[in-house]
Amino acid sequence: MVVARSRAELAAARAALTGTVGVVMTMGALHAGHASLLRTARAACDHVVLTVFVNPLQFGPSEDFDRYPRTFDNDLEIAAAEGADIVFAPTVDEMYPGGQPAVLVTPGPLGEVLEGATRPGHFAGALTVVCKLLHLTRPDVAYFGEKDYQQLVLIRAMARDLDLGVEIRGVPTVREPDGLALSSRNRYLSPADRERALVLSRALRVGAEAGAGLGESPDGILAAARSVIAQTPGVELDYLVLTDPDLGPAPQHGPARLLVAARVSATRLIDNIPVEIP
Ligand code: PAJ
Repeated sequence: MVVARSRAELAAARAALTGTVGVVMTMGALHAGHASLLRTARAACDHVVLTVFVNPLQFGPSEDFDRYPRTFDNDLEIAAAEGADIVFAPTVDEMYPGGQPAVLVTPGPLGEVLEGATRPGHFAGALTVVCKLLHLTRPDVAYFGEKDYQQLVLIRAMARDLDLGVEIRGVPTVREPDGLALSSRNRYLSPADRERALVLSRALRVGAEAGAGLGESPDGILAAARSVIAQTPGVELDYLVLTDPDLGPAPQHGPARLLVAARVSATRLIDNIPVEIP
C-alpha cells in the first residue's frame, strides 16, 4: 500500500495501476461504515484508492474543523486490512496551494435545503473537494455512503451535469447493532446522549414500518416517525421529511426516502432510510 502525501506521489502511484480503479473519499477517523465502502470497492474494482482529507472548505466558521477527530495511524491499519492500494492524504496546502479557491462547484437549489439550510456553503465546499479528488485520483467508480444521502444525490448530479465520466455508486448505511448509524461524530456523544441519539434510527424504522407494514399514507408515515422523536427530551428536531429517491417531492406511491436531522446536546446528527409508500 502506497501512502501518498503530495500530488506528485499520488500521480506516480496512480500511473502504476492497471485495470479498473475505485475511489473511497473520507475525512479520516475511519470506522466500519468507511470499511464497508472500501470492501464494496475492493469487490468490484481491480484497485482501490482511499483519500483521507479533512476539507476546511466544507466546514462553517462555527463548526468542528479544528476538533474534528484525526486518527491517521488507525486509518492506515483499516485501509491496509481492506486492501487499499493507495492512500492519498494531502495537507491543506497541498490541496489548496493558493489558499481558498476562487472557483467552486455550485450545488444549485438542492444545496440550499435540508443540510444546506443549516450549513451555508457546506455542499459547495464538499462538491469542490470531491471534484478535485476525482480529477487527482481518476477512478472508474467512486463510492459514497447513503448515510450522507443529500451529499450522495448532489455528487451524482455533479457527475452527470458536469460530464465527469465517473460512475457514482451509493453504499447502504452501516449501523451499530442497536440501530445508531456509524458516524465519526458519534464519539462526541456522552453515554446519555448516545442513548437519546437512538431515537433518530428508531423514528425512521417506525416510519418505514408504517409505510410498508401498516399501509400508511405519506402523512401517516411522517406522523408515526415524528411521534417517536417528540417523546424524547434533549433531542431537538431540525427536520423530518419524506421525499422521492432524488430528494424531490414525495411520491404518492412507490420508493421514497425518509430523512431526519436533530441536535443531541451540541452534536448534530443525520440519518435516513428507504421507505416504500403503498
Ligand atoms: P466522511 O464523513 O468521512 O464520510 C466518508 C464517506 O463515508 C462518505 O461517503 C459517507 O457517506 C460514508 N459513510 C459515513 N458513515 C457511514 C456509514 N455509517 N455507513 C456507510 N457509509 C458511511 O462525507 C465525507 O467524509 C466528506 O464530505 C467527503 C465526501 C470525503 C468530502 O470531503
